[in-house]
Amino acid sequence: MQLKNISIASPSLDEEEWQALRAPLLSGWLTQGPKVAEFEKAFALRHDVNYALATTSCTTGLHLALMALGIGPDDEVIIPAFSWVATANVVLYCGAKPVFCDVDTETFNIKLEDIPNKLTEKTKAIIPVHLFGLCADIDGIKSILPPQIKIIEDAACAAGASYKGRSAGSLGDLAAFSFHPRKSITTGEGGMLTSNNKHQINLAEIMRNHGADIAEEIRHSSAKPYMLPDFKMLGFNYRMTDLQAAVGLVQLNKLDRFLQERLNWANYYKEHLQAITWLKPQKTPMYCTSHAWQSFVCYVDPDHLSISRNELMDFLLRKGISTRPGTHAIHNLSFYQEKFKLSEDDFPGARDCERNTLAIPLHNKMTKSDFDYVIEMFHEI
Ligand SMILES: Cc1ncc(COP(=O)(O)O)c(C=O)c1O
Repeated sequence: MQLKNISIASPSLDEEEWQALRAPLLSGWLTQGPKVAEFEKAFALRHDVNYALATTSCTTGLHLALMALGIGPDDEVIIPAFSWVATANVVLYCGAKPVFCDVDTETFNIKLEDIPNKLTEKTKAIIPVHLFGLCADIDGIKSILPPQIKIIEDAACAAGASYKGRSAGSLGDLAAFSFHPRKSITTGEGGMLTSNNKHQINLAEIMRNHGADIAEEIRHSSAKPYMLPDFKMLGFNYRMTDLQAAVGLVQLNKLDRFLQERLNWANYYKEHLQAITWLKPQKTPMYCTSHAWQSFVCYVDPDHLSISRNELMDFLLRKGISTRPGTHAIHNLSFYQEKFKLSEDDFPGARDCERNTLAIPLHNKMTKSDFDYVIEMFHEI
């Protein structure tokens, strides 16, 4: 068989996105303006929420969510130990303390049984992560938490995903999505904050624009040229550009097709790899009504494979197949280990997921022959 070169991820953009850039470029309105407003409205509608607020990234969306909830010094926020570092960083941006919780080695999401051990009188919020597009068990989490604890979904990987028929982004108090190019839909960098809570979204909107009490669009279209905003709180510049939103609108229109293709290919992988006993694809529990399959991540069982996960990745690379570890155990990162005096074994589930998970190529540009090639190479091992 001829060697192929298959990337782990690739954004799906074409002439339509290219053409969509014309309107904002020609109008001269490049920063947050009418396209951002249109993108927010369409995103909120697709995700069954009242409000959506475009941001520069999921990280800044999560930061705004915590700030809007008033999380600050002396507060604790529970997060899964196996996630991208941003999930923990945003808690520190607010001066609060990230409290790590272990994860399940089958779903890779937060382990419900570990949550009660993490609750203290300082706990103000939890950030369940919908890792790789699989929604965390939100009802299970709600049944454990005292009602005053706020839930912020880290839905970075979960555009279009659903849980018991309810849309990601509508499951907690606030949620943040990512449009980084490794996600199912992209705007280059970019994010979206969603909520049904008007007050919190209003606060986030003010903080997105330096804390200004008058939005830029209103100020610039006003008949009063002398109008300047007042700043009653500390804010940031987390505004998305109209160029990004123009691309985002086109991508959002393609989301359902992308998700259907990803689901079909994930099922194809599962069917054709099921005979390999040492390879366990991310478990999809019954409550998952739509998995976004942002990445196809498997657990490589070290007890049933004579080579290590890294040797396996080297082998696949020699065959032209790009792979990545699922993500990292945040408590193992030098900064967090030193700051909170953590050891690798404090969160054995996250430790094992970091060592043994493997993301294999799945994206909307792959052909059947690409998938068959990956499957064949796995059967060669
Ligand atoms: C689980 C998770 N949370 C947060 C982020 C941060 O997203 P962004 O790069 O848009 O800030 C990522 C990005 O990969 C992620 O995977």
